[in-house]
Amino acid sequence: MKAARYYAAKDIRIEDIPEPTLVPGSVAINVAWCGICGTDLHEYLDGPIFVPAPGHVHPISQEGSPITLGHEFSGTISALGEGVTDLEVGQNVVVEPYIIGEDVSLADGEPYQLSPDMNFIGLAGHGGGLSEKIVVQRRWVHPIGDIPLDQAALIEPLSVGHHAYVRSGATAGQTALIGGAGPIGLLLAAVLKAEGLTVIMSELSTARKEKALSTGVADYVLDPSEVDVAAEARTISGGRGVDVAFECSSVNAVLDTLLDAVKPAGVVVNVSIWGHPATVDMQKLVLKEIDLRGTIAYAHDHAATIKLVQDGKVNLEPFITGRIELDDLISQGFDQLINHNETQVKIIVRPVPAN
Ligand SMILES: NC(=O)c1ccc[n+]([C@@H]2O[C@H](COP(=O)([O-])OP(=O)(O)OC[C@H]3O[C@@H](n4cnc5c(N)ncnc54)[C@H](O)[C@@H]3O)[C@@H](O)[C@H]2O)c1
Ligand SMILES: [Zn+2]
Repeated sequence: MKAARYYAAKDIRIEDIPEPTLVPGSVAINVAWCGICGTDLHEYLDGPIFVPAPGHVHPISQEGSPITLGHEFSGTISALGEGVTDLEVGQNVVVEPYIIGEDVSLADGEPYQLSPDMNFIGLAGHGGGLSEKIVVQRRWVHPIGDIPLDQAALIEPLSVGHHAYVRSGATAGQTALIGGAGPIGLLLAAVLKAEGLTVIMSELSTARKEKALSTGVADYVLDPSEVDVAAEARTISGGRGVDVAFECSSVNAVLDTLLDAVKPAGVVVNVSIWGHPATVDMQKLVLKEIDLRGTIAYAHDHAATIKLVQDGKVNLEPFITGRIELDDLISQGFDQLINHNETQVKIIVRPVPAN
């Protein structure tokens, strides 16, 4: 079968590799669509980051490069391994793409995303969504009912947004400020709108500002090159400041703005991954008793996220800005996202060519 394999930075090859074999407790999936994520771009430009370093294997998967890429994917079950009795062949599903020790419990309330050596399918082994087929453990498979398979490829990043929302403790009727309207900021905004918040977004790029408004996920979009975002956000929220703020830009100045914009005893959630240490103005934090929190990936979020889409509270369709074939992954996928990033939100890839 065809697969996109990561060898090293700037070296991703479309190759023919053996099909994965079904083992007891696992599920075989024909991949329908797989999104390209900013993390994939970082691996391509500056990696390996999540991918094991050359000559090393991941402690859980025991795999090293080349690895099959792709962690944002949907597909249809083609076969069930021994002992899997609660799913059916032909069912459409998404995968919560974790590589986590088999002894780690997924019981309610367990923070399995924080377990030792956590990594991701499609980055550190166990196959990937940028291939025609994949076999994954039953526990990571989530049925999606009648959600279209192309939109379902966005459930993984939407779950990142859902987890950030859960981490914030935000409730309906509150006001949120999101710094950065990239794919993660936009999908987080979609969750917050669906959960009944008023959403303010801060963004510099014209295309992304328009996307935030045209999709209806933001009530207000502020441009820091035109207005004082913190002052404006305080005005919108009745003078006190926003209840919650989310850093989704990896820009230190944005984090500073969020500390100014949040109300006393408000919550700031850092979603961004930082390639360098960020600074936090502790005086701002201490004088307002700001609660600064991290959020990583998702845990127990997929069911609620899928329900938001099934109930029509989130429409993922307008966030798909490109559909490509696996053979065009670099030319029409990675290069597009690297060079024309602001006009794209999510480019999705079809590993099996359309007839
Ligand atoms: N915590 C997690 O589990 C998790 C998961 C996925 C991604 N991430 C991280 O989330 C972050 C966002 O991801 P993304 O794919 O949306 O990134 P992105 O780079 O596409 O989006 C960032 C946006 O911030 C905007 N921006 C830049 N400077 C700004 C400024 N001064 N004011 C306002 N906006 C500004 C950019 O124009 C861009 O649209 C990244 O750091 C990514 O690594 C975290
Ligand atoms: Zn991703």
